[in-house]
Amino acid sequence: MLAEARASQEDDLATWGGVVPEIVARGHVAALPGLVEDVLRTAGVGLEALSGVAVAAWPGLGGSLASGVTAAKAIALRRGLPLVAVDHIAAHLAAVHLGRSDVPYPFVGLVASGGHSHLYLARAPGELDLLGGTIDDAAGEAFDKAAQILGLPYPGGPHIDRLAAQGEASASTAQLPRSFIHDRTLRLSFAGLKTALLYHARGPLGRDPLRLTGQAVADTCAAFQAAVVEVLVSKLELAAITHRVGTIAVGGGVACNRGLRAGLERLAARHGWSLLLPEPRHCADNAAMVGALGWFRLQAGEVAEPTLAPLPTGVMGPRRMRTTAPPAR
Ligand code: KG4
Ligand code: ZN
Repeated sequence: MLAEARASQEDDLATWGGVVPEIVARGHVAALPGLVEDVLRTAGVGLEALSGVAVAAWPGLGGSLASGVTAAKAIALRRGLPLVAVDHIAAHLAAVHLGRSDVPYPFVGLVASGGHSHLYLARAPGELDLLGGTIDDAAGEAFDKAAQILGLPYPGGPHIDRLAAQGEASASTAQLPRSFIHDRTLRLSFAGLKTALLYHARGPLGRDPLRLTGQAVADTCAAFQAAVVEVLVSKLELAAITHRVGTIAVGGGVACNRGLRAGLERLAARHGWSLLLPEPRHCADNAAMVGALGWFRLQAGEVAEPTLAPLPTGVMGPRRMRTTAPPAR
């Protein structure tokens, strides 16, 4: 990788307490031209040096995807470059290629982000079989809602991570469920955990002012994080054993979580598995992972039509994105 650049809207999102799709889309329009210039300047190349332009085209927020797809199409058309459409979720698992040349396939990968908590069998870059996932909230969504319950800013994951390091899970009196942890399916659920936290922190109807202060908030963060991590680690373990692979991987913003990273390291060490753990900046949404997957797509000759349209809810992905039915509920 020659250069990478990132624009963050987290300050705006904190003001609004969450993602406002229109504001986020406009933020993309405003940031993109400067970002493209920055990254080319840092790399010391011009547009003429490129062999293609890759863009995340699905799934995601419609307006944000449209901004990115439009920018990529404009550059590709103007310069006569191939346009490569990339699946955002597959890109999270392609982040394992950044900074290493020897990724052993197949592996089982967990994508844990604001919108996804899913397990895949990765056969090759971007060739994923869906093995299972959440039936309700995504792990990142659970972190964000838990933070909101505890009076912490958005996005909540990093705040819970920080406070959890100052707390002690066993000191919290919260009774937090680990949904489906003992069933032998690869389904996950975080809705019950979130509700249990709500009742613990804000009374039986969840409507009281926050009952916790100071150290109790940190202890509750540690207990909440431990519950999420335990479930994610245990389902990844089950998936790897079931599919007889010796390599596990993780991607998505929640993979920045220090508790999860430590839990995965322990899991891999216990089984003697290899762990593909991208740098935190390549776990949260980033362009480098899109470039990585785009590179493989381009090598395979998968070039998008100039009429490419974003597919906000798209799970179908490119032709290679095979999905099998998730386990029955
Ligand atoms: O992958 P991502 O950047 O965007 C999506 O595709 O959704 O993931 C964002 C999510 C947010 O829910 C955020 O709270 C969570 O990742 N997140 C974390 C941490 N950093 C980001 N969750 C737990 N611990 C973290 N350190
Ligand atoms: Zn993402």
